[in-house]
Amino acid sequence: MTGTILLTGGTGFIGSHTAVELIKRGYEIVIADNLSNSCADVIGKIGIITGVTPRFYKADVCDRESLRAIFSENDITEVIHFAGLKAVGESVIVPLSYYRNNIDSALSLLEVMDEFGVKRLIFSSSATVYTAGDVSPITEDMPTGGCTNPYGWTKYMIEQIIRDKSVADPEFSAVLLRYFNPIGAHESGLIGEKPNGIPSNIMPTITQTVAGRLDMVHIFGGDWPTKDGTGVRDYIHISDLAAGHAAAIDYARTHTGAEPINLGTGTGYSVLELIRAFERVNCVNVNYDISSRRAGDLGVCYASAEKAERLLGWHAVKGIDDMVRDAWMWEKKSDIPKQT
Ligand code: WQD
Repeated sequence: MTGTILLTGGTGFIGSHTAVELIKRGYEIVIADNLSNSCADVIGKIGIITGVTPRFYKADVCDRESLRAIFSENDITEVIHFAGLKAVGESVIVPLSYYRNNIDSALSLLEVMDEFGVKRLIFSSSATVYTAGDVSPITEDMPTGGCTNPYGWTKYMIEQIIRDKSVADPEFSAVLLRYFNPIGAHESGLIGEKPNGIPSNIMPTITQTVAGRLDMVHIFGGDWPTKDGTGVRDYIHISDLAAGHAAAIDYARTHTGAEPINLGTGTGYSVLELIRAFERVNCVNVNYDISSRRAGDLGVCYASAEKAERLLGWHAVKGIDDMVRDAWMWEKKSDIPKQT
């Protein structure tokens, strides 16, 4: 099938890696991004990696006129919606910005998709929609809601909006991809995770500590009910996560309805295991201490990856060594300024 896939937020961490994977598989893509949390030079890097420089629109997905222009100028057949504010901690500080931006952009996108008769959507959701609890592996039929932060609530609400849309329009097809912990970078070291300011996620905290941009990693809690007392998460290589989106596109083309699907490996690693792997693979030392737990954290959280395998024929193939190697390669190659 021909047609073009629109990636909103396609210059971000997950969007850019998905762009690479889609182009590699021969899909035609176009990227729209307001660059509020990414750089336009990512477009050129996608071109270097794949040999194809995707068409790019600097646009705010909340702005329906901008969206209409994109849909008018391209034969859009599917949309992968990445665009949105995504910092859990920030969402607690400025909740209205998160609700306005994330809900508004989703509604604007769905309305313009309607105007142009586009009926297939892949939504960038998150494991934070699951009701907090220490039961893992997490399956897609487990309770959602009771989110611990506004960011998670926006993902939960957008999932519901999409579900209701698919009930109202039987031809509508949506895959709600619930990400666990994407880390690492493209093996070229040309694209990767570039958090604004001081990172909150563990992987950039580790790489920036080893690079001398941060003093040390504070491990949030050494008294969790885990093998070594530190928190356990389902880390998935960003390139595996990106490949999951290509599989979701193929699935959406042959199904209707709104389908939640976990994108994780099904394996949990503790923070200390992640740090040890990073040291072993990269022959470096990570300076860390064990500090108090972070508010809102879970002790254990990892996915059941069974449904993704069953419905998408997809599973993660890269292991923790690939993740820590590629994350370090990116840190060494990227031009992230030292933290002042
Ligand atoms: C991972 C582990 C921490 C930082 C978040 C979002 C989630 C998703 C992925 C968007 C935990 C520990 C961390 C540090 C630490 N993002 N940690 N010291 O919280 O699992 O998930 O990112 O969808 O929505 O909530 O990821 O990387 O912050 O934490 O000890 O400086 O590392 O306690 O066990 P998290 P994280």
